[in-house]
Amino acid sequence: MTEAILLERERGLLTLRFNRPDKKNALTRAMYSRLAEALKQADSDPAITAVLITGSAECFTAGNDIADFIQQPPSDLDSPVFHFMLNLLECRKPVIAAVAGAAVGIGTTLLLHCDLVYVSRDARLRMPFVNLGLCPEFASSLILPRLLGQARAAQLLLLGEGFTGEQAAAWGIASEALGSGAAALAKAREMALRFDELPPQAVRISKQLMKAPDRELIRQVIEEEGALFTQRLRSPEALAALTGFIKRQ
Ligand code: COA
Repeated sequence: MTEAILLERERGLLTLRFNRPDKKNALTRAMYSRLAEALKQADSDPAITAVLITGSAECFTAGNDIADFIQQPPSDLDSPVFHFMLNLLECRKPVIAAVAGAAVGIGTTLLLHCDLVYVSRDARLRMPFVNLGLCPEFASSLILPRLLGQARAAQLLLLGEGFTGEQAAAWGIASEALGSGAAALAKAREMALRFDELPPQAVRISKQLMKAPDRELIRQVIEEEGALFTQRLRSPEALAALTGFIKRQ
């Protein structure tokens, strides 16, 4: 069976590549487990200097697998999706994302925890949590109002409006928007490999200093949102919306 998460090594760079093209790289429990495990390993392996998270030049990820949400929803924080979130939050190595095409749900919120984010200008980002009867996750309810202001964050989180890669860069969600998916991937790889040339302890301490002020608060919000999110997954509102997606023609 083809691996849905490909792990690739190039010098000190570990690339985690979503590889489930027939389902727009939607993330299953098994994929979150693999990602969580790889992040933990990258964190402790001194030979790894940076981690790159990406999909293909056509699609980043359609977010959580909706069939999984219905059939085996996370029931508590001891679930693969939360292990992935916490390991990304705790990763001491720089994490870089390269985004092209659709980046939905956690495909957008995970970017808020990466150190550098390169997007194609026409990438399509969206957090349709409310539209699906759910609520924000991965501390997006904390980070986005701070980053964008309450009014714009409400457009994205309460109305579930989509936005482009170009807007993501203009708003500070992404580092830079590039002309194509291939260009975004190439730029992300180039920047990620730069960490191979930089003194690793200085990089580690600097990232730690940048993350320290909000780390505990972010962790607490991930847990609070997570408790509500897992409840919402079992609500009639969410079940109707999620089943509607599966049954659509
Ligand atoms: N979970 C499970 N399957 C998904 C999926 C998801 N999140 N997103 C897409 N797929 C599947 C579709 O069901 C379809 O499968 P099929 O060919 O077996 O019918 C296949 O991937 C292709 O999707 P499709 O919608 O036809 O592609 P598109 O290019 O028209 O649209 C998206 C791409 C990502 C915009 C669209 O699929 C989408 O909105 N997906 C749902 C995203 C979402 O709500 N995620 C959860 C956020 S919390």
